[in-house]
Amino acid sequence: MMLLFFIVIYFDVIKIVNNLIKIMKMKRKLKLIKTSDGSHSICDIEKDEIYHSRYGAIQESLHIFINNGLKICKKKNIKILEVGLGTGLNLLLTYLNSRNKEIEYYSLEPFPIPFELIKKINYEEILSADIMSSIHNFPVQKKNILRDNFSFFRYECEFLSFDSFEKFDIIYYDAFSPRVQPKMWEPINFKKAYKLLNKEGFLITFCAKGEVKRSLKKVGFKLTHPKGPFGKREITLAQKS
Ligand SMILES: C[S@@+](CC[C@H](N)C(=O)[O-])C[C@H]1O[C@@H](n2cnc3c(N)ncnc32)[C@H](O)[C@@H]1O
Repeated sequence: MMLLFFIVIYFDVIKIVNNLIKIMKMKRKLKLIKTSDGSHSICDIEKDEIYHSRYGAIQESLHIFINNGLKICKKKNIKILEVGLGTGLNLLLTYLNSRNKEIEYYSLEPFPIPFELIKKINYEEILSADIMSSIHNFPVQKKNILRDNFSFFRYECEFLSFDSFEKFDIIYYDAFSPRVQPKMWEPINFKKAYKLLNKEGFLITFCAKGEVKRSLKKVGFKLTHPKGPFGKREITLAQKS
């Protein structure tokens, strides 16, 4: 009887959380903006937060996640986990920069951007690639083979609820900034990231805030701070040790 009671409570709590997520999705006001390198980004008007740097969405993603992420991983078969799929720009750039690697790319996005807005983004035009529709419209949690050496899995869930038997070589930690989403930068997230990484895996993020660095160190990461993209002094590379 007691067990039944707890099961009912458990499912009620899940329903409440799902409803809250739906309300949050409906409340968002998103606007397309042009950044300084000509590439688009999205502005969340209520949060007063942009998905990328105003100094250039493509230059920023290329610098952080490709040049200081994908390209420093020496493995041929690479498993990547992205926290925050957003527009799909990091995925698109990874796809274009991995012709001689085998990539499995997992991306989490609890609040997908409506495809009506995604359609207006100019990345395909600038980068001559044609996978945005496939990235955003393919069913969740299903293997989407974007190229014979590149598969992609999309999850509509939050990082802390993501369950996986997989281990990853790289985590692209691309949540909103600590100002907007302080909870995403608490040690519990980095503890999870640490567990999800392979022995020589690493996490790369745009954030180099003191408190975030301390949290990463606390869970065992070894940090270095490569130079940031245009408009940002440094970024954080957290190596599993
Ligand atoms: C800075 S934007 C990401 C930019 C994205 N990588 C791109 O290239 O467009 C942050 C993203 O994290 C997502 N996000 C928010 N909370 C999250 C959570 N708990 N787990 C995973 N992603 C989350 C947001 O919805 C948003 O799309």
